[in-house]
Amino acid sequence: MIVVVAALKGGVGKTTTSVYLSALAASSRREATLVDSDPQASAADWVENAEDDAFERVTLVEAPTERMLTKALDRIGDEDTAVVDTPPGNERLLAKAIDAADAIIIPTRIGGVETARVEAVLELVPRRKPVGLVICSARTYTRDYQDVVAAWVEAGVPVWGSVPERVAIAAGPEEYLSFDGLESYRSVWRRAQRAVREG
Ligand SMILES: Nc1ncnc2c1ncn2[C@@H]1O[C@H](COP(=O)(O)OP(=O)(O)O)[C@@H](O)[C@H]1O
Ligand SMILES: [Mg+2]
Repeated sequence: MIVVVAALKGGVGKTTTSVYLSALAASSRREATLVDSDPQASAADWVENAEDDAFERVTLVEAPTERMLTKALDRIGDEDTAVVDTPPGNERLLAKAIDAADAIIIPTRIGGVETARVEAVLELVPRRKPVGLVICSARTYTRDYQDVVAAWVEAGVPVWGSVPERVAIAAGPEEYLSFDGLESYRSVWRRAQRAVREG
């Protein structure tokens, strides 16, 4: 199963989402591959520098060009699990990744132009391919948050989960993976798996 974490913009939570999901995919004695297709290599950096045991079972592949990404994804076997982090502002590479994906997760935040940005990514996703949103750094107790979630549900776009705003999540590799982060991303991961199964 290949899960692509997709957005065209930076700063929405792609890398955080990719890293947490790869750790969860690699838990319970399973292995997982994290493919970092962002030349900034922040996911790679995180996995290399973090102390968490979960990352011992994560195989890191850096694939910052379309060519490398295609090769890396070709090597993922049917029984393997891979999570792909994508760079901002590279629509062609993103389209390639989406093409290879079994499921697409679109991280987003609450705020002004976010809806249009999510819609731009949704346009790249073929009909019937499983796709869901994860609302990152969410303040779930706010009216804004509740309105945005309701609007997506109304529009028929599944919200696979929300991840609360946490200092420990923002700390990246400087801290252990946050309990709240793992809990939230675990349910996102389950939703993605279920969507693929039912696909
Ligand atoms: N749940 C969260 N709580 C607090 N900060 C978060 C959370 N998720 C992401 N962030 C922060 O938001 C910023 C952007 O996240 P990042 O994963 O790097 O996004 P992208 O890869 O899309 O650029 C980073 O500083 C990150 O630490
Ligand atoms: Mg990133």
